[in-house]
Amino acid sequence: MKIQHSFSLYYSLLLLFLATTAILISPSHGALGKCNPSDYKALMNIKKSLNNPYELTSWKPNTDCCEWYEVKCDRKTNRITELSLVRSSSVGGLSGQIPSSSGSLPYLESIVFRNYKNITGSIPLSITKLKHLSSLDLSYLSLSGPVPNFLNQLTALTYLGLSFNQFTGSIPPNLSELKNLVAMDLSMNRLTGSIPETFGSFPGPTTLHLYLSHNQLSGRIPKSLGALDGSIDLSWNRFVGDASMLFNPYHGSAYYIDLSRNQFEFDLTKVKFPMSLIWLDLSHNKIFGRIPDEIKGLVGLQTFNVSYNNLCGKIPYGGKMQSFHNTAYFHNKRLCGPPLMGCKNLNA
Ligand SMILES: *[C@@H]1O[C@H](CO)[C@@H](O)[C@H](O)[C@H]1NC(C)=O
Ligand SMILES: *[C@@H]1O[C@H](CO)[C@@H](O)[C@H](O)[C@H]1NC(C)=O
Ligand SMILES: *[C@@H]1O[C@H](CO)[C@@H](O)[C@H](O)[C@H]1NC(C)=O
Repeated sequence: MKIQHSFSLYYSLLLLFLATTAILISPSHGALGKCNPSDYKALMNIKKSLNNPYELTSWKPNTDCCEWYEVKCDRKTNRITELSLVRSSSVGGLSGQIPSSSGSLPYLESIVFRNYKNITGSIPLSITKLKHLSSLDLSYLSLSGPVPNFLNQLTALTYLGLSFNQFTGSIPPNLSELKNLVAMDLSMNRLTGSIPETFGSFPGPTTLHLYLSHNQLSGRIPKSLGALDGSIDLSWNRFVGDASMLFNPYHGSAYYIDLSRNQFEFDLTKVKFPMSLIWLDLSHNKIFGRIPDEIKGLVGLQTFNVSYNNLCGKIPYGGKMQSFHNTAYFHNKRLCGPPLMGCKNLNA
């Protein structure tokens, strides 16, 4: 009798054990609700590889991942489409690497890891499996090493944001193969080398926003860049030579051009500006010649700065030109007229 009793206890314990394991290993069980079992598994692996951080407390085992924070689940397919971790408070924090299990969420359209200075390492190769990934934002982290050239395999990418990291090496020419790309932000890294020739021929939408500021990029910029539209920020680098091809009034509608803090050296006199310009900062270069009179026609211009160059002659009078502070013009070779001093000693 005694033996039989302990046997049945054993038996029930065994059953309990089996049942529990079944819940754990076969997440198709009701506890997961709408959550796709394979997404569930990938998310649990992500949580584990980030050492169960405070940010992911809502990711409780055996609950419906469609209800968790930091992810978005598509209403129709119930697949995870967004993974978004943005540090916004001083509480918690993530450390470690970008989890390679992110590549096991095949319906991801957007990944954001932002503002975690203890996230180090590189971008895992596994994310090239994400054929629906349209936005990759890995900024304000401590990622290092080269910008991976395998990112060219993310064919659905429209936005690539890797700013405020410690990436080194040169920009992979490969990235110009991203045929849906609308914006690329590689600013605030330690990139060297020059802008790849291929960057003038992105096959995708005509508007491209290219942000490369605060790196150690050098050399001449490719002539083909002239075909770019949208905005371009090359400030705080070591570019040299001509940049006048960026101002193509017939070929583009660029509205934001920041070339400041480089060593660009070209004649501004014959440059024709696109009418769409809103922001133009050319300060701290070696630009020479005069400010062309047509610039008065740029009615949308809100920011204008040509200080610290080798410009000369009279500042065009009219349009918005006198509405800018004199520091927008100072420290040039022989630039004069309002808002700077008059030109009386100049045969201009
Ligand atoms: C980041 O790492 C530093 C140094 O290891 C540590 O002191 C700090 O607590 C970490 N911060 C977070 C949010 O993990
Ligand atoms: C382009 O990217 C692929 C990986 O996606 C790589 O194998 C190849 O070497 C790259 N080509 C260049 C020129 O970097
Ligand atoms: C123009 O740029 C110079 C140099 O960076 C700066 O000192 C000045 O304040 C700027 N002026 C305006 C009006 O933006």
